[in-house]
Amino acid sequence: MQPDCSPRSVVRRVERSVRAAFMLSLHSLVLVCCILSRVIGSTGTPTFRQQRQPQPPRALQEDPGDYLADGSWAADDNGIASPPPPAGDDGEAEEWDEEGEGEDGPLLDLLADKAGGGPKRKQALRPVPGNGVYLGAILEGEGQMQPFNQRTGIHHAAFMKFIKFPQVLTDTEGEMKALASFMRECRENDAMAMLTLETPDGLNSYTAKEVRKFAQLINRWADVPVFLRWNHEMNGSWNVWGQQPDLYKAKFEEFAKMMRKHSKQVAMVWTPNQEWGFPWKDGQHYNASIDPYDPYLQFLPDKSLVDWIGISYFHFGHEVRGKNLIPGNNIVPLPHSFFPPIEDFYRFAQRLNDDSKNPQLPILIAETSAVWNVDGPVNRNYMEEQANGGGGRVLQQQDGGGGWHCPHQGATEWDIKTAWLHEVYDLDSDGKNLKKDFPLIRAIFWFNVAKYEPVAKVNADWRLDMQPAVTDVYRKLASDDYFLKHAVAAFETQQTMQSP
Ligand SMILES: *[C@@H]1O[C@H](CO)[C@@H](O)[C@H](O)[C@H]1NC(C)=O
Ligand SMILES: *[C@@H]1O[C@H](CO)[C@@H](O)[C@H](O)[C@H]1NC(C)=O
Repeated sequence: MQPDCSPRSVVRRVERSVRAAFMLSLHSLVLVCCILSRVIGSTGTPTFRQQRQPQPPRALQEDPGDYLADGSWAADDNGIASPPPPAGDDGEAEEWDEEGEGEDGPLLDLLADKAGGGPKRKQALRPVPGNGVYLGAILEGEGQMQPFNQRTGIHHAAFMKFIKFPQVLTDTEGEMKALASFMRECRENDAMAMLTLETPDGLNSYTAKEVRKFAQLINRWADVPVFLRWNHEMNGSWNVWGQQPDLYKAKFEEFAKMMRKHSKQVAMVWTPNQEWGFPWKDGQHYNASIDPYDPYLQFLPDKSLVDWIGISYFHFGHEVRGKNLIPGNNIVPLPHSFFPPIEDFYRFAQRLNDDSKNPQLPILIAETSAVWNVDGPVNRNYMEEQANGGGGRVLQQQDGGGGWHCPHQGATEWDIKTAWLHEVYDLDSDGKNLKKDFPLIRAIFWFNVAKYEPVAKVNADWRLDMQPAVTDVYRKLASDDYFLKHAVAAFETQQTMQSP
C-alpha cells in the first residue's frame, strides 16, 4: 500500500502513531553513551536497575565550609549575580591526595602539566555571564578545538565534555586521561570548560573524599573556568539519577557546597530536560509519585547553590510541536521553532528570578543542533512502523524505486542547518531573538558531533563546520559582538558583570 504522503496526512499519522514517541532527550542519553564510548573510549552502555527503592540522602561527612560567608553577591542591572570573592588563599591549587600512589604514580605523570615551564597561570573564578552570549560547542575527539575555531573563523569561549563520576578519579587510562587532555586543550585554546558530570551508579554512589579529590583534580587546571553541569535531565525518567527530586536536590546541594569550599573556578549548572512529554511515563525510572504538573521546580536545588540554569533543545526532524519526537528525518525546521520550547523554561526562570531575595540566575542552552541524516533523503514511515507493532522503525530510501518518500522531506543539509542557525543565532530575524527577547540567556553550546543515533536509527551529522557554505552562515551570524568569544573577567582581577 502506498501511503498518502501529503504533509497534512503525515502530521495526522504522526500524531496518531507517536503515542509511544521517543522523547527528544532520550537523545541526550544516547549522546552521552556515544560520546563516552567514542571519545572517552569506554565501552558499555549504562546499565539500569530494574526496581528502585526510594533512597534517603546519605549525607557525606564533610564540613560544608564557609561558601556563603561573604553574604552579599554583587549583581548587575539585570540582577544577575557575580560570584562571591574567592575564599582568600594564595591561589595555589591544593595538592593531590596521592593515597599511597607514590611520587611516581601514573596520576602524577598524567597530570604533570601543572608544573614545568611557561608563565605562572592565574587562578580562574567561576564563569559569570558576560555582556552577551558565550559561544560554546561540543566536539568529538581530541585536538579538535583549534581546528574548529579555525574552520569556523570564530574563537569559542567554551567547550563541553561528558564525564563519569567517581570513575573519572580512578580510570586513569580512560576517563581521567580524556578529562586531562580536554582541560589542557581548553587552556591552550583560551576556553572555559563545561563538564557534564554524570553518576552512572546513582546519587549515593560516591564519598566525600571522592568529591574532594575531584575538586583537587579540577584544580590542576585552576586557570580554566569550569561550568559543572551536574547530573543533567534529572527530571527525566531515563537516567538513573532521574525523578528523585528530594535526593537529587540534597545531593546537588551537598556537592555544590563542597566544590565551593575546595575550588574557586567552578560554577554549578542545573539543566533539566525540556518539558514536552513530562513526566515521561514510559521511562525506565519513571516515578509515579512526582508531581506531573511541575516539570522543573520540584527538582530545583537551593538557588544560592546554583550558578547557571539551562536546558537543551534539538531539531530532530519532526514537524509536530509539543511532543518530543525524534524521527531523524531530513526536514527543514519550521519557522520560529527554536524559541517556543525554550520559552516555557525561560518564563519559569523569570518567575524564579522574581524572587529578589536571591541573585538572578543566568540561563544557558546546553546543547542544540539540527539533525542531518547522512543516509538521506529518507523518510521514517510511520504507517509501516505502526503496522510492525510500533517497534520496527524502517527507513525508506527516496530513490530506492518505489520508496515511500514524502516530497516535502529530503531537504538538503544546507537547508536544514542554515535554517536552524538562523533560528538560534540570528539577531535580526523577524521572530524572537536572543538579544531582544531572551536577555537572560548568556551561553549556547552547539552540538558539533557526527554519530549513529540508536534511538532514531539514523547516522546523524550535527556538525556545522563540514560544509563551507553552512559554516559561512554560522560565521556571519556568530560574528555579532553580542556573541562572546572569550571568557569575561573570569580571573582574579574580575569586575562586576555588565548587562547587555
Ligand atoms: C518519587 O518522588 C517522590 C516525590 O517527590 C519522592 O518522595 C520519592 O522519593 C521518589 N521516589 C524515588 C524512588 O526516589
Ligand atoms: C524537566 O525540566 C524541564 C525544564 O524545567 C521541563 O521543561 C520538563 O518538563 C521537565 N521534565 C520532567 C520529566 O520533569
